[in-house]
Amino acid sequence: MRVLISGCGYVGSALGLLLTAEGHTVFGLRRNTKALPPAIKSISADLSKPLSPDALPPNLDAAVHAVSPGNSKDEAYTLAYTQGPRNLLAALEPQRKTLRFIFVSSTGVYAQKKGEWVDEDSPATPETTSGRRLLEGERLVLGGPFPATVLRLGGIYGPGRTSTIERALRTLRIAPQEDPPRYTNRIHRDDCAGALRHLILLPDPDPLYLGVDHEPATLHTIAEWLAARPDVSPSETGTPARTTPQNGPRGASRSRTNKRCSNARLIHSGYRFLYPTFREGFAALLSETP
Ligand SMILES: NC(=O)c1ccc[n+]([C@@H]2O[C@H](COP(=O)([O-])OP(=O)(O)OC[C@H]3O[C@@H](n4cnc5c(N)ncnc54)[C@H](OP(=O)(O)O)[C@@H]3O)[C@@H](O)[C@H]2O)c1
Repeated sequence: MRVLISGCGYVGSALGLLLTAEGHTVFGLRRNTKALPPAIKSISADLSKPLSPDALPPNLDAAVHAVSPGNSKDEAYTLAYTQGPRNLLAALEPQRKTLRFIFVSSTGVYAQKKGEWVDEDSPATPETTSGRRLLEGERLVLGGPFPATVLRLGGIYGPGRTSTIERALRTLRIAPQEDPPRYTNRIHRDDCAGALRHLILLPDPDPLYLGVDHEPATLHTIAEWLAARPDVSPSETGTPARTTPQNGPRGASRSRTNKRCSNARLIHSGYRFLYPTFREGFAALLSETP
């Protein structure tokens, strides 16, 4: 297969390496192509500007859009999630109409607050600017000229991205389990890549999947699990967050959602997680950390 990954960064590069290892040809598009792994063919382009079809390789079988905004301004969200895909779709226009377009979105489109289970059929009525722009991007690609699939990812962690571990450790010094419990949802980078590969190769994918592991968990549950491990010392609980017990750990004030995202559709489609819960994923990260 010939696959284009636009926004070939943390997740995109992992996906690209997975596909090239299997013999597929992968093109990674980003502004700074020096950071791309050598196995991925580089395309230097800025999707904030219109792109010539000639800048893209011909005969693509799939395109994965995984551009992230560089900051939290609406302009950046618009660029990453609507303007960028619009420019990309326009440049892909001469390609075969069987090209499969996959848009990487986020569970941030769900505003549910009561800890309820959320799946692909749940209402997505985002209350944040990023969520609204993501939803616009999803609608754009699903209404576009190519068969499209959206993957809404939970919080991504993995090598070099351990902020959930650090936040969880801080909660131990702040407060007991929140009442009611406030759930977070996550996925390891390698499962992001694995799920995207699965959706590229799946014969007849649905338009929408949630990309989260099997277990929504509170930061406190994660913290307790970490604290019980012999390889996590109390000194690793870090600096206490500047917040009150009522507000919860740092970061909680940014998002007041409280939901449990279900991966049932992705599992039913045949995907098997490398890291089914935070336990396997964090254990692997802790064993890799010197
Ligand atoms: N982080 C999370 O927890 C999370 C959760 C849910 C969903 N997501 C979504 O998952 C996707 C992948 O995330 P990630 O962590 O892999 O992101 P990332 O590491 O930041 O990679 C995104 C890539 O987009 C490229 N990019 C940014 N602006 C661009 C532009 N104007 N033109 C071309 N390329 C551009 C960047 O490279 P250059 O700077 O070199 O251009 C970067 O390599 C994103 O869509 C993100 O929104 C993330």
